[in-house]
Amino acid sequence: MNENIVWHTTNVSKTERSAQKKQKPCILWFTGLSGSGKSTVANAVEAQLFEAGAHSYLLDGDNVRHGINKDLSFSDEDRIENIRRIGEISKLFVDSGLLVLTAFISPFRGDREMVRNLVEQGEFIEVFIDTPLAVCEQRDPKGLYKKARDGKIPHFTGISSPYEAPEEPEIHIKTADKSIAECAEQVVSYLREQGYF
Ligand code: ADX
Repeated sequence: MNENIVWHTTNVSKTERSAQKKQKPCILWFTGLSGSGKSTVANAVEAQLFEAGAHSYLLDGDNVRHGINKDLSFSDEDRIENIRRIGEISKLFVDSGLLVLTAFISPFRGDREMVRNLVEQGEFIEVFIDTPLAVCEQRDPKGLYKKARDGKIPHFTGISSPYEAPEEPEIHIKTADKSIAECAEQVVSYLREQGYF
């Protein structure tokens, strides 16, 4: 970083922005295999939060890769950079006082820990969307598993690239035997109980 760049302190603080919104900002970091239901559950959670009057923003893997991260591939190196940028963006949203939801495979434990360490204690909530590979592959909503099995997509998570499951996620959701509404409720209840909104 250039030594002539100095951090500029703003007049309005994170605490004031959060107090105005009557909430405790945080990152709800959804992680899981492709097709596990991250985006679906995150969307359902955001809808409930909105309904309850909370202020939120959802960053979604496929959308972010159409814009700010469209220069990145699925090599290990680029996935790390993908998560690093999302982490920094999420941190800015937290500073703005929002409840941030992110839905990225984020397959590497170390990268998720890196984001946890970017923000303050209690501001990073890891949400493991735990859906067995066989179920994701059977759903195959985008037809990508089939293509990956046919060797048409290199480095596909779960097939030819690893997924490191969270060891102690704050929220662990086993989607296979639950409805989307029940999964969302599990997250929203956690936020309520912990006083985030
Ligand atoms: S991450 O691994 O870098 O966190 P991210 O969540 O941004 O991944 O993007 C995953 C989405 O990109 C998948 O849901 C899928 O639609 C698409 N995709 C395309 N190629 C791959 C691949 N090789 N591995 C995983 N997902 C892929």
